Amino acid sequence: MAALTRRQFAILPAAALAVDAASLTSPAFAQSTAPLITRPIPATGESLPAVGLGTAAVFDAADAATLQKASAVVRALIDNGGKLIDTASTYGDAERVLGDVIVPAGLREKVFIATKLESPDVEELKRSLNRLQTAKLDLLQLHNVSNPRQSLAAFKTWKAQGVCRYIGITSTFHGTFPAVEAILGHEKPDFVQIDYSIDDREAEKRILPLAAEVKAAVLTAVPFGRGRLFRAVRGRPLPDWAQSFAASWAQFFLKYLLGDPRVTAVIPGTADATHMTDNLGAMRGPLPDADQRRRMVQFVESL
Ligand SMILES: NC(=O)c1ccc[n+]([C@@H]2O[C@H](COP(=O)([O-])OP(=O)(O)OC[C@H]3O[C@@H](n4cnc5c(N)ncnc54)[C@H](OP(=O)(O)O)[C@@H]3O)[C@@H](O)[C@H]2O)c1
Repeated sequence: MAALTRRQFAILPAAALAVDAASLTSPAFAQSTAPLITRPIPATGESLPAVGLGTAAVFDAADAATLQKASAVVRALIDNGGKLIDTASTYGDAERVLGDVIVPAGLREKVFIATKLESPDVEELKRSLNRLQTAKLDLLQLHNVSNPRQSLAAFKTWKAQGVCRYIGITSTFHGTFPAVEAILGHEKPDFVQIDYSIDDREAEKRILPLAAEVKAAVLTAVPFGRGRLFRAVRGRPLPDWAQSFAASWAQFFLKYLLGDPRVTAVIPGTADATHMTDNLGAMRGPLPDADQRRRMVQFVESL
C-alpha cells in the first residue's frame, strides 16, 4: 500500500481511525480500579506509568493500515493510563507514524516520547523532531552504545537548550554491557534502556545495581524476548499460583520485571490494541513478591 501523506491521514474518515471497542476487550486487571503502578524517575521524582509501548518493527511503514493500528494502540495506551512510547530514528517510519497519530489528535501532552539517535548528529536530531512533529522530546537516548568512551556531551547541551527533558543510553547486546557500565559511570544519564526478561536476567547482576547507584531510571527493552516467551508457554494455562497477580501470560512476564523496584518501566512492543490493553493490565493489582518471583523463574526454566 502506498504511503499516506500527513494531509491524507488527517482526512481519513473518523470511522477508519476509530478504535474498535471490541478489540479493546481486555483481561480483568486492565479494567481494574486498582491504582496504577507508577515509578519515580530518579533525576526528578516525576512519576511515570510503569508499562509503556515499544515500537521497533511494528510501525515501519507509514501506510494506512499501519496508521490505523498505531492509532488504536496509542489510544489503548492512553485510555488505560499509560504514557511512555519508545521509538528510534532507525525504526523505519515509526517516528513519522507516531507524529501523524499523536499530534493531529491533540495527544502530545498525554504521552512521554522517548526516541533514539545513532550518534550525536544534529541533522539526525532535526529529522526525528520533524517526524515526531514536536519541538521537545521527553527522552533522547543514544542507541546501542558500544564504546566505553562514548560521550553524551552533545545530548547534555541539547537538554540544556530544552530540546529534551531527559537523556539516556540503550543496549540490548550483552557484549556491550561493559560500555553501558562505563558510560553510566562517567556520563550519569537520566535513563538506561537494557534487555531484561524473565528468561534473560543478565541485567539483574550488572546493570540494575549500577543504575540504582547512579540514579538512572531503567527501561526494559524486549521484555517478551521478542515474543520468545509466548512461544515457550503456548498451549499452557497460567498456573493457579500466579493468578493472584496476573490475568494473562503477558502480565505474568511483565510483572516479573516490575517486581524489581529498580525497574522504572517496561516497554513491550505491539501493533495490536488488544495486546496493548493486556500489557497495561500489568500496571494494576499486586506485584509478585521475592518468593513468587523465584517460583516464576523456576517455572520458566522448567519449560
Ligand atoms: N537497542 C535498543 O535500544 C532496543 C532493542 C530492541 C528493542 N528495543 C525497544 O524495546 C521494545 C520491545 O522490544 P520488542 O518489541 O523487540 O520485543 P518484545 O516486546 O519482547 O516482544 C514483542 C512481541 O510480543 C508480541 N506481543 C506483545 N504483547 C503481547 C501480548 N499481550 N500477547 C501476545 N503477544 C504479544 C508482539 O506481537 P503483536 O504485535 O502481535 O502484539 C511482538 O511479536 C521495542 O519495541 C523497542 O522500543 C530497544
